[in-house]
Amino acid sequence: MTVMDEAALLRKYNVQGPRYTSYPAVPFWETAPTAAQWLEQVSSAIDANAAHSGASMYVHVPFCRSLCTYCGCNMRVTRSSAPVMPYVHSVLREYALYLQGLGRDSLKLGELHLGGGTPTFLDPSELDALVSGLLDKATLTPGASLSIEVDPRVTTREQLQVLARHGFDRISLGVQDFDPRVQEIVNRVQSEAQVREVTETARELGFRSVNFDLIYGLPLQTLGSIAETMDAVARLRPDRIAFYAYAHVPWIKPSQRRFTEADLPEGEARLQLLALGRERLAAAGYVEIGMDHFALPGDPLNQAARDGLLHRNFMGYTQSFTTPLVGLGVSSIGDAGDAYVQNEKNLQQYEARIAQDELPIVRGHLFDEEDRVLRRHILNLMTRFETRWEPGSTQARYLEQVPMRLHELQQDGLVHINGTHVAVTDIGRSYLRNVCMAFDARLMRRAPATQLFSQTV
Ligand SMILES: C[S@@+](CC[C@H](N)C(=O)[O-])C[C@H]1O[C@@H](n2cnc3c(N)ncnc32)[C@H](O)[C@@H]1O
Ligand code: SF4
Repeated sequence: MTVMDEAALLRKYNVQGPRYTSYPAVPFWETAPTAAQWLEQVSSAIDANAAHSGASMYVHVPFCRSLCTYCGCNMRVTRSSAPVMPYVHSVLREYALYLQGLGRDSLKLGELHLGGGTPTFLDPSELDALVSGLLDKATLTPGASLSIEVDPRVTTREQLQVLARHGFDRISLGVQDFDPRVQEIVNRVQSEAQVREVTETARELGFRSVNFDLIYGLPLQTLGSIAETMDAVARLRPDRIAFYAYAHVPWIKPSQRRFTEADLPEGEARLQLLALGRERLAAAGYVEIGMDHFALPGDPLNQAARDGLLHRNFMGYTQSFTTPLVGLGVSSIGDAGDAYVQNEKNLQQYEARIAQDELPIVRGHLFDEEDRVLRRHILNLMTRFETRWEPGSTQARYLEQVPMRLHELQQDGLVHINGTHVAVTDIGRSYLRNVCMAFDARLMRRAPATQLFSQTV
C-alpha cells in the first residue's frame, strides 16, 4: 500500500466504535437480569459445564498509588491502606453471597484473575487474606490458571512469594512505554530496571508466563520512542504482549485532559506507531494472535491460535473455555453465556449493597437469539480473523445484511468474502473493530447519539 492509500483508509475508517470485549457492547445492554435470574443463569452454566474446564473468577482491586493520566480503568487513587481490608471483606462476602444463592459450598475454578486498578497495592498479608479467602472455597481444575495484573513500581518479592505459594503462575506487568518523556507526561515514571526486577523475580519464583501491557497513541510517542520501547521489550522477552490502542475518552475520564490533545499522535501517525510496533515485535519473534495481542511461538496461546482453539472473554485471550465468569468487586463484569451483569462502579455503593447482603448488580443483559449468533461471529473474528456460516441455516437470517455492509471494506482490501466466508486481510487487521461493526446489528439499529466509544484505529 502507498502512504496515500493508508491515509485514505484512515480517513474513511477511523471512526468511533466498540472494542468488542463483549457483544453486545455495554452501552447496548438492555434487559438486566434480576439477582435471582442471574444466579439461575450462573447455575445453568455451571451444570452445563460440569465435566469440563470449570468457571472463571475475576476480582477487581480498584486501588492505585498514583494516577496515570491516560488511564481508562475503574480505579481510585489513594496512599492510605485503610480502605483495603474492608474491601477484601466485601469481596469475600460477595463470594459467600454467590455460594449461598447457588446452594454450593465451593466453585470449581479453571481460572482466577486479579485485575484492577492495582492488585499489588495490597501488601503481602492483605493479598494472602484475599486469595486464601477465595481459594478456601474453591477447587481448582488440574490445569487451572491463576493470574494477576501488577504495577512494577509497587510490586515486591514478598507479594510475588505469597502469590506463587497459592499457585499463581501468570503475571501481567503494566509497562506502557519506556521513553522517559512519554512516561513523564502521563505521570508514570518507571525504569527498565524496575520492570526487569519484577520479571526476573516472577520467573525465579515459578511464574510460567509473563505479559507486558504496552500502549501506542500516548502523548509524545514517536516512531523513535516506539522503537526504543520495543528494543527494551526484546531485551526483557516477556512471553506475551498486549499492544493496546490508547483509548482517548476524556468525556468519561477527565484526567485524560491533563495533557494537551496537541501532544497526541493522531491519524496516520498513530497507525504508523502501530505498524512499527508490529514490525518490531515480529522481528523479535512474536506472533500476532488476535486483536492487540502477541505471543512467543512456544506460548500455549499461540498453539491454541494455530489450532483454532483460542477463546476470548472479558479478561482477554485464553486457551481454555471456562464458563461461567463470576466477577467480584467494584465494576466487575460477569458472563454466564446467555447473560451479562456488571457490579456497581462506585466503591461506596458497592460496599453498601454488600453490607445489605445484596449482589451489587447495577446493569446487565439477557441474550436473545440474534445476540447469540452475532456474538459467536464477532468472537470468531477476534480469535481467528475469519468466520463462516451455513447459507440457509437458521442463523443465516441474522447475517443477511453482513456481506452488503462489508462490501466497501472488501473493495478497500480489508476483507475477503467468499459466499458466507469472511476473512480479514493483513491490512484489515488494523481495522478489525470496523469489520466486527458490520456484524453489530444493535449498533446498526441504534447508532449512539452521543460520544460513547474510542476511535477504532
Ligand atoms: C489495570 S491496568 C494494569 C495493572 C496496573 N494498574 C498497571 O497499570 O501497571 C490495565 C492496563 O490497561 C491499559 N490501559 C489503561 N488505560 C488505557 C487506555 N486509556 N487506553 C488503552 N489501554 C489502557 C494499560 O495498558 C494497563 O496496563
Ligand atoms: S494504568 Fe494502572 S496504575 Fe495507572 S492509574 Fe490505571 S490502573 Fe492505576
